[in-house]
Amino acid sequence: MSTLIKNGIIVTTDNEYKGDVFIDGTKIEAVGRHLTMEADKVIDAEGMYILPGGIDQHAHFSFEFMGERTKGFETTDAAALGGTTTVIEFVNQEEGKGLVETVEAYRKEWAEGISMVDYSFHPVITDPTPETFKDIKNLPAAGYPTVKLFMAYKGQFFHSDDEAVTNALLEAKDAGVTVMVHAENADLIDLMQKKAIANGETDPYHHALTRPPIVETEATERAINLARFAEAPIYIVHVTTEGAVNAIKKAKEEGLPVYGETCTQYLLFDKEYLAKEDFEGSKYVCSPALRDKKDQEYLWKSLKDGSINAVSSDHCGFTFEQKKMGLDDFRLIPNGTPGLENRLPMLWTYGVEAGRITRSELVDYYSTMPAKNNGLDHRKGYIAPGYDADVVIYNPMVEKKVTVEDSLNALDYTVYEGFDQIGECDAVFLRGTQVVKDGKYVGEKGQGAFIKGTAFGTAFR
Ligand code: URP
Ligand code: ZN
Ligand code: ZN
Ligand code: ZN
Repeated sequence: MSTLIKNGIIVTTDNEYKGDVFIDGTKIEAVGRHLTMEADKVIDAEGMYILPGGIDQHAHFSFEFMGERTKGFETTDAAALGGTTTVIEFVNQEEGKGLVETVEAYRKEWAEGISMVDYSFHPVITDPTPETFKDIKNLPAAGYPTVKLFMAYKGQFFHSDDEAVTNALLEAKDAGVTVMVHAENADLIDLMQKKAIANGETDPYHHALTRPPIVETEATERAINLARFAEAPIYIVHVTTEGAVNAIKKAKEEGLPVYGETCTQYLLFDKEYLAKEDFEGSKYVCSPALRDKKDQEYLWKSLKDGSINAVSSDHCGFTFEQKKMGLDDFRLIPNGTPGLENRLPMLWTYGVEAGRITRSELVDYYSTMPAKNNGLDHRKGYIAPGYDADVVIYNPMVEKKVTVEDSLNALDYTVYEGFDQIGECDAVFLRGTQVVKDGKYVGEKGQGAFIKGTAFGTAFR
């Protein structure tokens, strides 16, 4: 099967130009002006933008968290519809099992034959034994060049202390594995949560008040210092505060391999959403918590100046019913917001159309940089010959409002309900197979494949 996409505007991380893309089988064969190859299918992309498929390096599927499981890989048609052709999810190590062992078993049970987009995983250390740390060196050969630790969530089995983070950093640097951390001060949060509950402050808004910016800033600075001590690269997930951004920026200026991502929801929502009536605020409970309006502008600016290197969704498909676990105690609300399908259109609408970032910056943060960070850039993240034909044709002429009726998230809500959306994915190709046509998902369950990452993303080499 071959496809010739004509007359689009191809967007790369450093420029954009009018051109054609020829896809043969699963790969991009040629990119240029006035290509004349014979193709099984010819698409006229006049007036539309051609982008590399998105890579969402922070998403949760079939994820057991606070006793509840999120929607799984059967909902990854939502990713495809939103222009994301590769997802990377976090898998908690099972007690007594190795990292590779856990992830391989999880992949076979929950992703293979189900996922509608390509996928990989970040193993999460939960059992900080010498055997676990030794297992880190086995990760790259199995295709997983990252490992994650949760500094937050005191009392949960997946919480890690500084000793565990440091041990991971020391093992990872020689193995070509990048350590990722969720940086929040678990003790401070625990202390404030206990005080709030003792005062009868049980509603969702107190989720935000009991994890103020300082808990993230402090833990981010500490994580970077541990990486400095271990002389190892580090990647900070879901950065939301000015202080955390500044810590990353300062480390970069020192030449340290420190990277950070933020997430769509932190760019678009503030913590007042948590005050919504009738427990609606629970839908916006994610960690770190939503911040203030001024923090959103700071995060946009940090994308502009390169202090933050990627935008992920941190997608968590919990239903409103599941959120109601925490009706009487905000600490029991499963954390996380759904946003798998909204990342590209929201970045386009509120980033590009609002003049905050360029299309090239969008491409970098939603695709190319995540490919580099995760050792996938030998196949993903570029519109160029030899790369996987993961291609998005974005139609900027559509104007609509986000609504759950149009959503494929398989939930009873979208947090983006009523948001303006400019543009949509008119067509999406996953390794050469068209999975979105005229703005509708047309793919099939199981079309996604496991993609092995290589040791250290090139960003860290
Ligand atoms: O609130 C969030 N982000 N839930 C998912 C788990 C995590 O911390 O990434
Ligand atoms: Zn997290
Ligand atoms: Zn997460
Ligand atoms: Zn069309």
